[in-house]
Amino acid sequence: MTWWQDGVIYQIYPRSFHDTNGDGVGDLAGITERLDHLAWLGIDAIWITPIMPSPDSDWGYDVAFYTGVQPVLGDLEGFDRLVAGADARGIKVVLDLVPNHTSSKHRWFREARASKSSPRRDYYVWADPKPDGSPPNNWRSSFGGPAWTMDPVSRQYYLHNFLPTQPDLNWWSEEVREEFDQILRFWFDRGVAGFRIDVAHAIVKDKELRDNPPAEPGDHPYVAAFGQRKVYNAERPEAHDVFRRWRAIAEEYDPPRLLLGETYVLDVERLRPFFGAGDELQLAFNFVFLHSPFTAEGLRSIVDATERALDGPDTWPVWAISTHDLPRYVDRWAAGSADRARCALLMLLTLRGTPVLYYGDELGMADVPVPPEQRRDPVGTGAFDAGPGRDPCRTPMPWSAGPGGGFTTPEARPWLPLSTQPGVTVEEQRDDPGSMLVLSRDLIALRRAEPDLSSGGYEPLAAPDGLWAFRRGERFVVALNLSDTAGAVDLPSGGRIRIATRRARDGEAVQGPLALGPGEAAVVELTR
Ligand code: GLC
Ligand code: CA
Repeated sequence: MTWWQDGVIYQIYPRSFHDTNGDGVGDLAGITERLDHLAWLGIDAIWITPIMPSPDSDWGYDVAFYTGVQPVLGDLEGFDRLVAGADARGIKVVLDLVPNHTSSKHRWFREARASKSSPRRDYYVWADPKPDGSPPNNWRSSFGGPAWTMDPVSRQYYLHNFLPTQPDLNWWSEEVREEFDQILRFWFDRGVAGFRIDVAHAIVKDKELRDNPPAEPGDHPYVAAFGQRKVYNAERPEAHDVFRRWRAIAEEYDPPRLLLGETYVLDVERLRPFFGAGDELQLAFNFVFLHSPFTAEGLRSIVDATERALDGPDTWPVWAISTHDLPRYVDRWAAGSADRARCALLMLLTLRGTPVLYYGDELGMADVPVPPEQRRDPVGTGAFDAGPGRDPCRTPMPWSAGPGGGFTTPEARPWLPLSTQPGVTVEEQRDDPGSMLVLSRDLIALRRAEPDLSSGGYEPLAAPDGLWAFRRGERFVVALNLSDTAGAVDLPSGGRIRIATRRARDGEAVQGPLALGPGEAAVVELTR
């Protein structure tokens, strides 16, 4: 087992973690200052969303320069200090790589746009309008509207699967591939343990730019809502060449660097190809799980299907319950119920596969309402969406109560509003044995101490409706009651509760069925 299989990854949205200079924006020095806390929590690696220079039309996911640091976050020396500090505490640093598109302010795009004969023209995807002047095909942007914008200079359209200020790179270009080889090496040489790869499912597009077919009845609701199946602008077979190329570079290092894909597919069977023959991505995020209803039946069927799809030696599941793109699990799944939130956390930290905690998950942090005039996300402002966008799940980490929240100085104006959720701060929870934070820390520690929990197999057990139970390795059973009534599961043998969401039950001996109240879950060690 390697660190990215038996460890726990912690996702940090750097603008919102900790601000050290009072400008209201979190920074790399802030992450460095909080490393002791992360070591106390017991995580193995941090994944930081993009830190590279960017005009921030999509908050770092529009990169203007791939081998530097966004000034508001710090500089390369500060980054080196972060890596050294993390290393001293046994914590790995994973960065976010954005290869699908650049910022329209990137030098490559400015040069490409200057003329049709620019040597950089081919770095991006250009196509002539249809005879009636409309876009070359029917592809839609993930943020709404056509995926094409007309460039007035050359009278050609350029492709953007996200904002018009995020032109898609042309991964058919050998030069683009070589540029990224160097970018990977630049950061790997600096001690980066791996990359989360943005939009890994869609970097290569159909060379003929064929129209996508419409969604079909029975498609996942998100595909139905999008209106088309991304047959020609996602999951292209040619992407495997690129993944193999990156994996070969990752393997030049000791230890090999991690490639963790944002693999947005809505069918777990389709995760399998991202692993190749053990020569492509090592981990592929599971969005079917993130979009699951929070019911025993819904979760169990997705986890079972994932286990079947990822059962080979070259595959390994990875689980997250929140990300910077979705409402936090406390809102999305637990609907504000502290009991259900504790169940979600216990599940995340006991499934077979690598758990990824999103900062604040460990506290039971909920979304923060962001008034329209304070919105920052392009999705949720302007032309793209009238909804609340993604800001509510990106607000500052609540370190302590009071002005500034321990995130910034009391006088500063944080870039997004602070949470006012009572009791949800590190300071208040750290020494409270009944808190979510201590539950998280204890589950992480148990996982580390018990190889059955970090690397043992997963086997679903029979359970009544509304309950879900699974065995981990030889000696552990995890059981969750996600229903509104009391229930019980039969265990293969007697045992003892190691950690229950209701902490008063820790250590309880279990003979016969394990009784669980509504919204209660437990990790049981079986008697040998
Ligand atoms: C990914 C990121 C998201 C970003 C998009 C475009 O989905 O997670 O935050 O907006 O890519 O880069
Ligand atoms: Ca700052």
